[in-house]
Amino acid sequence: MGLKEEIKRRRTFAIVSHPDAGKTTLTEKLLLFGGAIHIAGAVKSNKIKKTATSDFMEIERQRGISVATSVMGFEYDDHKINILDTPGHQDFAEDTFRTLTAVDSVIVVVDAAKGVEAQTEKLMQVCRMRKTPVIVFVNKVDREGKEAFDLLDEIEEQLKIKVRPLSWPVGMGKRLKGVYNIFDKKFYYFAGEDKTTAEKPREFKDLHDPELDKALKEQAQKLREELELVEGVYPEFKINEYLNAEIAPVFFGSALYNFGVKELLESFIKIAPYPKPSFANERMVDPFEEKFSGFVFKIHANMDPNHRDRIAFVKVCSGKFQRNTNYQHVRLGRNLKFASPTAFMADKKSIVEEAYPGDIVGLHDTGNFKIGDTLTEGEAMNFKGLPSFSPEMFKYIENADPMKSKQLAKGIDQLMDEGVAQLFTLTMNNRKIIGCVGQLQFEVIEYRLLHEYNATCRYEPVTMFKACWIKPNDKVEWEDFKKRKYKSLAVDKHGRDVYLAESSYDLQMAQTKFKGLEFFFTSEF
Ligand code: G4P
Repeated sequence: MGLKEEIKRRRTFAIVSHPDAGKTTLTEKLLLFGGAIHIAGAVKSNKIKKTATSDFMEIERQRGISVATSVMGFEYDDHKINILDTPGHQDFAEDTFRTLTAVDSVIVVVDAAKGVEAQTEKLMQVCRMRKTPVIVFVNKVDREGKEAFDLLDEIEEQLKIKVRPLSWPVGMGKRLKGVYNIFDKKFYYFAGEDKTTAEKPREFKDLHDPELDKALKEQAQKLREELELVEGVYPEFKINEYLNAEIAPVFFGSALYNFGVKELLESFIKIAPYPKPSFANERMVDPFEEKFSGFVFKIHANMDPNHRDRIAFVKVCSGKFQRNTNYQHVRLGRNLKFASPTAFMADKKSIVEEAYPGDIVGLHDTGNFKIGDTLTEGEAMNFKGLPSFSPEMFKYIENADPMKSKQLAKGIDQLMDEGVAQLFTLTMNNRKIIGCVGQLQFEVIEYRLLHEYNATCRYEPVTMFKACWIKPNDKVEWEDFKKRKYKSLAVDKHGRDVYLAESSYDLQMAQTKFKGLEFFFTSEF
């Protein structure tokens, strides 16, 4: 198979949801279809449960699992499918954001009873920003849930995207009869716990087929009315609108009972995009280009403190990646060769000889990589699209053991390269401030500094509202700003100027007063 065919058969995506909506269950069912696993329960949940906040061993154990489940590749119907897993816990949202930069599409799982939840809204913002095509799977229809129309309204409103149902549930919970697939006009019976997909779908000529009444009894008329309304209210599904991220097709089902999952998978491979061009600062990179290029979107540390090696996850953006071949590490300006690049299947890793755009390869790293690093066949370019988001919690980080300051500095440096949190160094006095999305990240840093770097840190409180990256359009104003706000100025780990606003009032004032400066909540603008 040539490069072109290999690219076109690839589908790289992430499943995102609020914790407990059913992401792990759905992932597992997809893997079962792909034959990547053979028994349910093989995929361990990657979520770090709330109870684990003070149980560091548990966090470590789960980090181990999350390496194994970071990328799950499988073959289905001549397609190579790569599912990128994202941590369910909101404290690791930054990691999820970065993973979203490496996918070509997303499946959003919504709980039919709970509707759209906070975490999903946040993740959707990133999809919108990147114009990532989205399919919505309304899960748990085997339980009593909200009315389908209400759910669609909620999705449209809260996820800020137009929707188009492609299947329709007949009943929910105890009254669930099945799901009508609007496009192939087939009705899929829900046979319940024991039989699940055993019954073949029934096909109907059209909605007026009397067989439909026989099959669904009094629910047939309701289905007709509802579908009529669907056709009246929602625009016709146009694949281009989905690919342009203007409309999200919606499917209904129950991941637990493996119901509606096969239909989802089959529609997904038909409509979801194959790898698209990526953007480097210098130019657009087409996946069909002969020469290999890729970028690091995730780094995972080895959990064994005796081996401080890590795995850098590289998304292949163009050309063919080959084992034992020299590639240029653009930031270091050095050639590197990889003897044992790994590919990830459901629960195992294996060494790969080659990989194509859309694939993720794991590279053993002894400290050469940072998140965002680009590999090429020699061209000096840098992929963009891995922004840092303004964190929401800040603390000073101090050395608690004067004998170990070197270890601490190294530890902080490496953990930040991994993207565990963000580091801001105050310009005024070089004090270091860690910025996180959630409390758990602070705890992970403290624990890992101690166990992996033998360094002890101490946190001190700091009042801070947001970190804003600054674009100084007016040099005079910028100098003035620096003088007045010198106490609140810092640099991020790439040396970019950051304003650490103490309160939303301070930020507003700064924005009003300094019109020649632009303030951004992400590091890429
Ligand atoms: P997550 O990864 O999004 O956090 O969710 P996960 O798949 O772990 O599912 C959360 C809970 O919801 C699990 O129950 C799971 O069995 C259940 N679930 C998932 N899909 C469905 C569905 O379609 N219908 C119903 N009724 N339940 C579903 P749990 O009790 O928390 O865990 P477990 O002990 O069953 O594993």
